[in-house]
Amino acid sequence: MKIKIADKLGFCFGVKRAVDITENELNKDGDLYIKGQLIHNNEEINRLESIGLKSIDGFDIKNKKVLIRSHGTSKSEIDLLVKNNNEVVDATCKYVKRLLDIIYEHYNNNYNIIIIGDNKHPEVIASNGWCENSGFIIDSDDDIFKLSNYFNENKNNAKNKYIVVSQTTLDEEKFISYTNKIKELFKKSYGSEYILENLLIFNTICSATKERIESGIKLAKEVDIVILIGGKHSSNTKKLYDAIKKNAKNIIHIEKKSDLLMTNLKIYDIIGVTASASTPFWVINEIVDYIKSLDDAE
Ligand code: F3S
Repeated sequence: MKIKIADKLGFCFGVKRAVDITENELNKDGDLYIKGQLIHNNEEINRLESIGLKSIDGFDIKNKKVLIRSHGTSKSEIDLLVKNNNEVVDATCKYVKRLLDIIYEHYNNNYNIIIIGDNKHPEVIASNGWCENSGFIIDSDDDIFKLSNYFNENKNNAKNKYIVVSQTTLDEEKFISYTNKIKELFKKSYGSEYILENLLIFNTICSATKERIESGIKLAKEVDIVILIGGKHSSNTKKLYDAIKKNAKNIIHIEKKSDLLMTNLKIYDIIGVTASASTPFWVINEIVDYIKSLDDAE
């Protein structure tokens, strides 16, 4: 039995940085609080909670040290934390920060904001919080249909400039397809001569998800089964799973070593291992060691 590991797997830059910041703060005096999951990986969350990270439901707290996760948060929540004398430890990923800054700057310069992404995802919710929740969110084709009305309604207002941004983990093809549709609808509402200065498109996708997908597909073509490690509730793990599944003979999605115990891996000659951007290396190593131990046990 041979094991192949994907070239690109596990923690992306932003998640690693957020975990490093968290550990560093936990080594100092005082409690550290977080709203929501730091990352979408239960194993890592359990570990960080076991060394002191405390969960809160909302930001209506005072005089505490509060961590902002890599997905970022809204401006009003940061303002509330500061007003209530909390110490803010910002672990927002630099790629997410770029997205939030683009939104904030253009919103303050009288642009309408169009965000392509999952309207329930924390990053999209945080992004919308930098334009006072006025963003038009495109999550599906249905939203594209509503965009004509949105353009036409705004035509009667003074605010006729737009920017388009995307969730950092959006699929590139989806971004191209939706931005083409947005341009078409814009031209229909405003005329083609108006488009260049008044519809600005920013590709705010980060490369981490794409790299893991490409590497996972390459791996899938070389092995008999792919073991994909990642949180069951993680959207980037789901995207990785869907892309690899189309190219793999077999695939299993697991979160931790114990999820593999009932699977007979010995029937496969070559086993591939990959992991999403929110999966820590200690979880990956534990699973790889387990697979190797099956071989030794023969
Ligand atoms: Fe940042 Fe991209 Fe990871 S936005 S958190 S490096 S998936």
